[in-house]
Amino acid sequence: MHFSTISLAAAISTLLIASLSGAQAETCDTTKCVFPACVCPSVNPPKGMDPKTVPQFFTLTFDDAVQAATVPVANSLMSSHRNPNGCPIKGTWFAQTLYSDYSLIQQWYAAGNEVADHTMNHYGTPSSAEITGNRMAINAYAGIPFAKMTGFRAPFLNYSKDTFDIIAQEKLQYDSSTTAVPTDAYWPYTLDYGLANDCWTGICNQTVTAPGMWEIPLHAIMDSDLATANAYNMDAQLYGSESTVSTWLKNNFNRHYTGTRQPFGIYLHPVHVGNATSLYNDFFSWAAAQPDVWFVTNQQLLQWMQNPVPASELANQTYMRCDIPAVGKEICNGLDDTKSGTIDSGLLQMCNFADGSWSTCYGCPVAQPSNSTSVPAAAVAAGQTGHRTPVPSTCAMEWWDPVAAQCLCTSSNCTFTDISLQVPKTTSTTGASPTGTNSKSSAVSSSLTSFGFVVAAVAAGLVQLI
Ligand SMILES: *[C@@H]1O[C@H](CO)[C@@H](O)[C@H](O)[C@H]1NC(C)=O
Ligand SMILES: *[C@@H]1O[C@H](CO)[C@@H](O)[C@H](O)[C@H]1NC(C)=O
Ligand SMILES: *[C@@H]1O[C@H](CO)[C@@H](O)[C@H](O)[C@H]1NC(C)=O
Ligand SMILES: *[C@@H]1O[C@H](CO)[C@@H](O)[C@H](O)[C@H]1NC(C)=O
Ligand SMILES: *[C@@H]1O[C@H](CO)[C@@H](O)[C@H](O)[C@H]1NC(C)=O
Ligand SMILES: *[C@@H]1O[C@H](CO)[C@@H](O)[C@H](O)[C@H]1NC(C)=O
Ligand SMILES: [Zn+2]
Repeated sequence: MHFSTISLAAAISTLLIASLSGAQAETCDTTKCVFPACVCPSVNPPKGMDPKTVPQFFTLTFDDAVQAATVPVANSLMSSHRNPNGCPIKGTWFAQTLYSDYSLIQQWYAAGNEVADHTMNHYGTPSSAEITGNRMAINAYAGIPFAKMTGFRAPFLNYSKDTFDIIAQEKLQYDSSTTAVPTDAYWPYTLDYGLANDCWTGICNQTVTAPGMWEIPLHAIMDSDLATANAYNMDAQLYGSESTVSTWLKNNFNRHYTGTRQPFGIYLHPVHVGNATSLYNDFFSWAAAQPDVWFVTNQQLLQWMQNPVPASELANQTYMRCDIPAVGKEICNGLDDTKSGTIDSGLLQMCNFADGSWSTCYGCPVAQPSNSTSVPAAAVAAGQTGHRTPVPSTCAMEWWDPVAAQCLCTSSNCTFTDISLQVPKTTSTTGASPTGTNSKSSAVSSSLTSFGFVVAAVAAGLVQLI
């Protein structure tokens, strides 16, 4: 059912799912799997905590290209909601390179949101070049440290054992590509004993082992409690009227909230949200009004998983705060440092290529990043006018002035040392001759969207798109 086609959806019952799932959860030996390094799949919160005392986490994720057409959609779903500690809610974007604007990825991250890996060109069962190259390009042109891009979601939620081998080798912190229905609705768990979701595909019988790496399953929206229920993994608004979907959302949320409080999620493609912003905003307001409901990024969720505290103590956890650096002058860090209403005004460089244009704070490359050369040589060499200096590992992006090549904060309270910096070598290339463009003119080609994927998915009959 997880991947079910529209025609198959009614035929595959939750009963069938029940008989196939859960087996692997039992192979995880709780005496050998020791918290917090290892966490077995479980419908219950960690460390035997009483569900009534744990926060009801709510994750909001967005997938695919980060561009002028999609960022406002995501922001329109987040801007009017706050957590119990007064902080604006944050989301996780599984970003691809294709059609994305790197300066918008940087701004999304600088605002306190999470950026995770969704490959360069959005192929199912992606190659390591697709997975690694995406992080390298985002690091180079959006300035995000490798250590802060710790998550992965497979395009089309289509992965194999190889996919897990690749991301384990890259030492990512978590995957979020598997799906859960009520019978395998696990809290996040580590992959020391393999997968316990999507078992109907046979994946649980394969030796997917990645000790210490987390799995954060996508909890499907079920459209009824019956055995014939359909499971919608993403974009539930596409499958019913506003009032019908609103009822599904509340019923599914309540199942978590009044049960064992597994994190609840809404997983969206901004290009599909359309007129459903009010549906989701109303639902988020309704959920946020219930006691102990916290909207979190996947990284914040895993911070809590590793050191769980009662909901009453969450407000003051460092990772739930919402500090913004007070830089004071505009430095191309993805923030409106001067509060002028314009982010990085005049500081972005526009990179124009035959297949699209995008802007960046960190200097254009000579060619469009690709899965064979994810970080081409800089168009303007060091020492020449217009050169931009990449963020060094000793400075947080928010404090780095790429024009002056200067870190504006060197005290311990604002520096960021990327201790787990790991630059994969497979797709990096330098030394190409600087023939590319560095023009500051031309508009961003913001009209590009990832609709090509949507069409492909519909043609394949998938209930869950992309
Ligand atoms: C996943 O991708 C592979 C090819 O990479 C394809 O053969 C398979 O049909 C896809 N599976 C689904 C469920 O889309
Ligand atoms: C790289 O991307 C191209 C399309 O740009 C694709 O055809 C090719 O399969 C990809 N190669 C790898 C190794 O993923
Ligand atoms: C997985 O293995 C078990 C026993 O080892 C078997 O009963 C089951 O049919 C297998 N499931 C799949 C989906 O291959
Ligand atoms: C969006 O528009 C479609 C088609 O006009 C309609 O069926 C649907 O109910 C609308 N959804 C919302 C949330 O308003
Ligand atoms: C959190 O910290 C603030 C001040 O820093 C304090 O006033 C408040 O009581 C604390 N709340 C909890 C729940 O500890
Ligand atoms: C860092 O700490 C110093 C001394 O406590 C303080 O003056 C400064 O404002 C702090 N900087 C930031 C960005 O918090
Ligand atoms: Zn996608």
